[in-house]
Amino acid sequence: MNILKLLEDRVVKALITAGAPEGTPAMVRPSARANFGDYQCNAVMAAAKKMGMNPRELAQKVIDSLDLDGVASKVEIAGPGFINIHLAPEWLASSLFSAIKDPRAGVAETDNKQTIVVDYSAPNVAKEMHVGHLRSTIIGDSTARTLEFLGHKVIRQNHLGDWGTQFGMLIAHLEELEKESQEAMSMELSDLETFYREAKKHFDDNPDFATRARSYVVRLQAGDEYCHKLWKKLVDITLSHNQDTYDRLNVSLTATDVMGESAYNDSLPVIIKLLDEKGLLSEDNGAKVVFLDEFKNKDGDPMGVIVEKSGGGFLYTTTDLAAIRHRCHTLNADRVLYYVDARQGQHFEQVFTIARKAGFASDHVSLEHHAFGMMLGKDGKPFKTRAGTTIKLADLLDEAEERAAAVIASKSGDLSEEQKVNVIRSVAIGSVKYADLSKNRTSDYVFDWDNMLAFEGNTAPYLLYAYTRIMSIFRKAGISESDLTGNILIENEAERELALQLCRFSETIESVAREGLPHQLCAYLYEISGAFMKFYEACPVNKEGVSEELRNSRLQICGLTARTLKLGLGLLGIETVEQM
Ligand code: ARG
Repeated sequence: MNILKLLEDRVVKALITAGAPEGTPAMVRPSARANFGDYQCNAVMAAAKKMGMNPRELAQKVIDSLDLDGVASKVEIAGPGFINIHLAPEWLASSLFSAIKDPRAGVAETDNKQTIVVDYSAPNVAKEMHVGHLRSTIIGDSTARTLEFLGHKVIRQNHLGDWGTQFGMLIAHLEELEKESQEAMSMELSDLETFYREAKKHFDDNPDFATRARSYVVRLQAGDEYCHKLWKKLVDITLSHNQDTYDRLNVSLTATDVMGESAYNDSLPVIIKLLDEKGLLSEDNGAKVVFLDEFKNKDGDPMGVIVEKSGGGFLYTTTDLAAIRHRCHTLNADRVLYYVDARQGQHFEQVFTIARKAGFASDHVSLEHHAFGMMLGKDGKPFKTRAGTTIKLADLLDEAEERAAAVIASKSGDLSEEQKVNVIRSVAIGSVKYADLSKNRTSDYVFDWDNMLAFEGNTAPYLLYAYTRIMSIFRKAGISESDLTGNILIENEAERELALQLCRFSETIESVAREGLPHQLCAYLYEISGAFMKFYEACPVNKEGVSEELRNSRLQICGLTARTLKLGLGLLGIETVEQM
């Protein structure tokens, strides 16, 4: 049950009955403070202004026709024209009861199922994944999981950087290594950064090698079998490195989601032809360019976006145009979400504009660049190693496991070795992911080991621990959730607060799905855990004097809290453990 949506629908109806213009937004929000009710409607002031009416008078009219029978126990005007809504205790109890009985914790599938393409991760071939790829990979993955949970058809697209002029030098270098010896080759390929660096050095220092490398690019792009075989080898090795990282990170991408830049190679000339037919192409110093009035260059003239270089050769933009066309026309997307660094903002604006003009994306398709900021070190500069090089993701995860092991060793005395290994992995991976996911993706954030591994605050260890605490309540009670029956009693404030929060799962999930902002889900889970701790203090379960009926009710609330945490963390790609 999405309470927010229900209230919004009812408020919109009431606004219209009260004479507000069609399309007036309901502006219902959870109230910031308990004395403002559970939800607050902020729509009236702006509407009254438009209608030339006194806001409090309009608010009264809205309340008069607001149908919240059975849902709200009190609806009142506050201040200049806010409307405070207090949910009825019986209604809240029955909503909570249905969530308790629902394996999906009250989150229904949407009735508007869409096909949604999610473009994320997209590392580059013959390079190690580094911290810069972490954000795209995990934020994209969490959004993909959330959309799927709501019943959408999600098509993951890993737009691998597997094409371009650099492949000439890479395959020429691979060829030499192959000739040298098997060992030399495997050695260097075990660390792709070294491989790339050596290839580049070779190219810069050795003119013969450089000539060969250049001829290999031409052969590769013309479909030459030999060059293609060497290229494919590099792609496969990179993919297997990446897959290890995805599996370790509990990221749902697999080989079938790879749709690299090379896959669009044959359609690039088609894109140029179609742009030309639409009259969008101009020649500029031999290059093919689309001029866009929407963007001005520094002289104030329409900005030119190059789609084919002079003398041939396509660009990153051309490939993205081909990708949009494929996603809209072949995959039939209703939405396409791009999880790519904010620095590529202008690139996507241009690509989207051209795609619309050329008819590669029709108006009904929503094209969304879900940009994110950088990962910074404690010094506020881009996160790097001490030596100033980029940090490999694999090394970062190794360090996370070492640090988590130290934290867990000092906390969990009575776990078996096997349990310990699980807990360490869950805490390590969970902490790295959660630290990122819990920050609003639109800004930069500071990567700080101590904060992310802390058991207090909005962190993975705190949430994982809250979950295990509930599991231990059930162990102590000697009963499992499925055996519980009986009514739900909401008797005191802490119980009511937790109940209300638990009933907000659905509205949170739908908001994450709409905006692709998983930090909203993190904030929600943190809220739930806090409300649970207060509830558990005020409402003991396994204590003498607690009646059977009350104990059953409270245990059911504990059960729903645990399920909500598990489902929520699962949507973030974080696995819970039963004990820690
Ligand atoms: N490979 C690119 C990079 O590392 C990201 C690709 C993002 N996706 C896209 N459709 N352009 O910067």
